[in-house]
Amino acid sequence: MSQGRIVVILLSMIVGFSVFVHFFTAAVAPPDVDQSVMTFSLSRPRAPSEARKLESPVPFSKEMVEKGDEIYHGKGNCYVCHGPTGKGDGDAGVLLSPKPTNLTDPNLHLLRRDGELFWAIKHGVEGTGMFSYAPRMISEEEAWIVIQYVRTLKEER
Ligand code: HEC
Repeated sequence: MSQGRIVVILLSMIVGFSVFVHFFTAAVAPPDVDQSVMTFSLSRPRAPSEARKLESPVPFSKEMVEKGDEIYHGKGNCYVCHGPTGKGDGDAGVLLSPKPTNLTDPNLHLLRRDGELFWAIKHGVEGTGMFSYAPRMISEEEAWIVIQYVRTLKEER
């Protein structure tokens, strides 16, 4: 076999292999996958681990849940992004990527302690539209109160 032929065979093998890899990997990771959805999967904590130890100074009560409801739909403006019923579908949230957290998701309530929710309200979530809301817009105490309301948004499976 001439050297020219061997080169041609080798080249077509390389081209064939790259075409195969191209289509194969395209099938595994379609180019239109929203990367932010993967990076911002719920299982990734939004707060450092020490936030799990923070305890609310406000004992749970029906009155505080009602007060939290008022903060959520009032001075806290949480509903604007997280939606009036907490589903993450507020008017100002639609254009955000990642999307505002769905506060009704049972997995959120399973995965996050109160301290982690507090940490997110106090410091915001880096790389997202969630800014620091306490003590800028609501006091730290009001943040703990709004968390009592957020806990009642949890949907049953
Ligand atoms: C400008 C839109 C916007 C407003 C207003 C807003 N949020 Fe958020 N919020 C977000 C986004 C975006 C995220 C981040 C989503 C993510 O991390 O995937 C987030 C994340 C959170 C988280 C963290 C969830 C987690 O995964 O631990 C909590 C808790 C939260 N918001 C509560 C509130 C509360 C309470 C208010 C009102 C005081 C509020 N947010 C106001 C957009 C908003």
